[in-house]
Amino acid sequence: MKPARNRKRGNRPPGRNQPPAEQAAARPVGGERQRPAFRQGELPAERLPIILEVGPDENYALIDSGDGEKLERFGEYRVVRPEGQAIWPRALPQHVWQNVDAVFTGDTDEEGLGRWRFPRQPLGETWPMRHDGIDYLGRFTSFRHVGVFPEQASHWRHMAGLIGAAGRPVKVLNLFGYTGLASLVAAEAGAEVTHVDASKKAIGWARENQAIARLENKPVRWICEDAMRFAEREVRRGNRYDIILLDPPAFGRGPKGEVWQLFEDLPEMVALCREILSDRALAMVLTAYAVRSSFFSIHGLLRGAMAGKGGVVESGELIIREETAGRALSTSMFARWVAQ
Ligand SMILES: C[S@@+](CC[C@H](N)C(=O)[O-])C[C@H]1O[C@@H](n2cnc3c(N)ncnc32)[C@H](O)[C@@H]1O
Repeated sequence: MKPARNRKRGNRPPGRNQPPAEQAAARPVGGERQRPAFRQGELPAERLPIILEVGPDENYALIDSGDGEKLERFGEYRVVRPEGQAIWPRALPQHVWQNVDAVFTGDTDEEGLGRWRFPRQPLGETWPMRHDGIDYLGRFTSFRHVGVFPEQASHWRHMAGLIGAAGRPVKVLNLFGYTGLASLVAAEAGAEVTHVDASKKAIGWARENQAIARLENKPVRWICEDAMRFAEREVRRGNRYDIILLDPPAFGRGPKGEVWQLFEDLPEMVALCREILSDRALAMVLTAYAVRSSFFSIHGLLRGAMAGKGGVVESGELIIREETAGRALSTSMFARWVAQ
């Protein structure tokens, strides 16, 4: 069988959050890799389904959704974006949906290009945002994203709790770290953080967020590298982490054009991450977006990879609860291993 990363890829569009400069990277030839072997050992306990919910607060709210769109509040701005899962009718009248600061128009495909329209007045690229006391920047980017995935707050709070309760130095690895919110939450909670992303632009945004958050004196290493290559190197170098966050896109590219395909590359990535977990590891948290799959799939993968490690694997969906009608919007699925 051909190694997964060398298989010929379809001509798919660049992954979500892959900034434009990186999209132009040459089509890659990945390194040789094997499918991970079945791991013997007792499986961790399991808990599922777990639904982790984010509700409205002063910094963020899913105000309403329906007819294929969602209306959200990010700090001072009200924003309308496409939302394929909102197949129900809107709860709020049209004039509320029109009285907004930014609307993403164009391609409704999760990975499609589009553009921002500002109905009231032209807006700059960024604006002030805050999460649990950490300041950062919201950002109108291509591919409809705004520099933060609010549903991830469930994971961030859980992680901050683990770091705080550990009562010892904790090392966190954030793979596919994007604008760095998870890294900053970990740093603020007292961890030593290694943040890896393939995009120079995203690393730049993350560093900007570190400055805005006034966390520049915290130990965060910002690394622009292919996540798989980095994990392989860490295995060889013998570096170990207590918490690993994995939030990969369905499709992406490393800085040297390395292709990341979730379904093909995730098994090896999870196996590598298991290798670089410390002896006193606390958690490994995996989230997957925009894929036609079930959380049972990543649950089975992670549980198998953690055989012999004890603990529990809990899996389910990350959802956001509407402020107005109280319906829940599913954003992604997750599986996380937690030591007990
Ligand atoms: C889904 S986002 C991560 C979201 C982030 N964890 C959060 O919650 O805000 C995907 C990120 O993966 C990065 N990426 C894509 N392919 C990559 C690769 N091969 N290696 C490392 N990072 C990659 C993109 O640049 C992007 O920043």
